[in-house]
Amino acid sequence: MQIAELAMAYAQSRELSERLCEPLAVEDYVVQSMPDASPTRWHLAHTTWFFETFVLARCETDYRPFNSHYQVLFNSYYNRVGEQFPRSRRGLLTRPTVADVFAYRHAVDERMAHLFGRRTSDESREAARIVELGINHEQQHQELMLTDIKHLFWCNPLWPAYCKWSAHPKTTSRGSLRDPQPPHWTGFDGGIVEIGHAKEAFAFDNEGPRHQVLLQPFHIQQRLVTTGEFLAFMNDGGYRRPELWLSLGWSTVCEQKWTAPLYWIEQDGQWQQFTLHGLRPVQQAEPVCHVSYFEADAFARWSGARLPTEAEWEEAASHIQPETAPHHDHFHPQPVSDDSARLAQLYGEVWQWTASPYTPYPGYVPAAGPLGEYNGKFMCNQYVLRGSSCATPAGHTRPTYRNFFPHDARWQFTEIRLARDPV
Ligand SMILES: [Fe+2]
Repeated sequence: MQIAELAMAYAQSRELSERLCEPLAVEDYVVQSMPDASPTRWHLAHTTWFFETFVLARCETDYRPFNSHYQVLFNSYYNRVGEQFPRSRRGLLTRPTVADVFAYRHAVDERMAHLFGRRTSDESREAARIVELGINHEQQHQELMLTDIKHLFWCNPLWPAYCKWSAHPKTTSRGSLRDPQPPHWTGFDGGIVEIGHAKEAFAFDNEGPRHQVLLQPFHIQQRLVTTGEFLAFMNDGGYRRPELWLSLGWSTVCEQKWTAPLYWIEQDGQWQQFTLHGLRPVQQAEPVCHVSYFEADAFARWSGARLPTEAEWEEAASHIQPETAPHHDHFHPQPVSDDSARLAQLYGEVWQWTASPYTPYPGYVPAAGPLGEYNGKFMCNQYVLRGSSCATPAGHTRPTYRNFFPHDARWQFTEIRLARDPV
């Protein structure tokens, strides 16, 4: 990416983070609803810390930290950078204030603008690579800002709405009760295929190296599982039948007392769903979302199907570029608009659990230095998700993108696409 293009992408990404905060009151920035979620104020500061630590400290000859305390407060998990304030206690910090954090952001933006104005050299080309990583890092946190705010607002019995519904051709805020169309299945021959990123453009290190895998013939469902289909699973005792669950999944169902996806509550005999637009009745045609790997796996077993492996998903998606996927700013998944046999809803609605544990590809080597901690050290006890969600910034994903979460995580926009072996 050319420097001018990089400077523009940097400015747009930084601006989007602040635009996503516009619906918030100052109190909303500070509270932490659970250890997995962070306050908005922390996201805003941490993404700034990333540029300060990995770009400014490297490139400025007279570098001084904006505030030396921030080096600890806003370091997430980089042990090779130094000490970190505990993740589970981020919501206890009332200082620096929200205004202080915005001042921090703008000071770092000014210093970054100065760097973009300098002439290119081999060193600045390496810095440009890190800036591109920082932009993609901030985009990941933009999605987390939305999912963490959703969880925070869910904890409030006033059910605050982050945003209002706007006109959209495919759905309404009153709820659609139409039956979903039966899904189509698309068959693939399998054989030796290539997956992974070839590094001709930006990708995270965990997406490569590109390599061969052997696939057996498989079928994959054309669209995502709908809320109506998931309700049928629930009404058939899905959450009460241990034979449908992995052992660890059944323990989790019993311990957590799960009876429905996260953000669902039953009121007067009707299921309501909390969204970033507030509480409203579940809509049967929409993709179900906020289900864990365990729930996705149990639903697949109940359906007589299974989850796709990440290699199957990527092979199926390999001819569909994300740019052609619909993008909307509803921050809630929409019903499928295409009932043909064409693969639909790969991107921009909900992340799709795969049956693949998150492990390194053959030949994977983490980057040297602290940035090697970005992805590689999390390759344990997590499952890969593919696609992207309605909270993912436009242009952030691609067919090789590997998202990952623990098998009981539910606060992200996560969902089910079924696969099966040929009959
Ligand atoms: Fe981060």
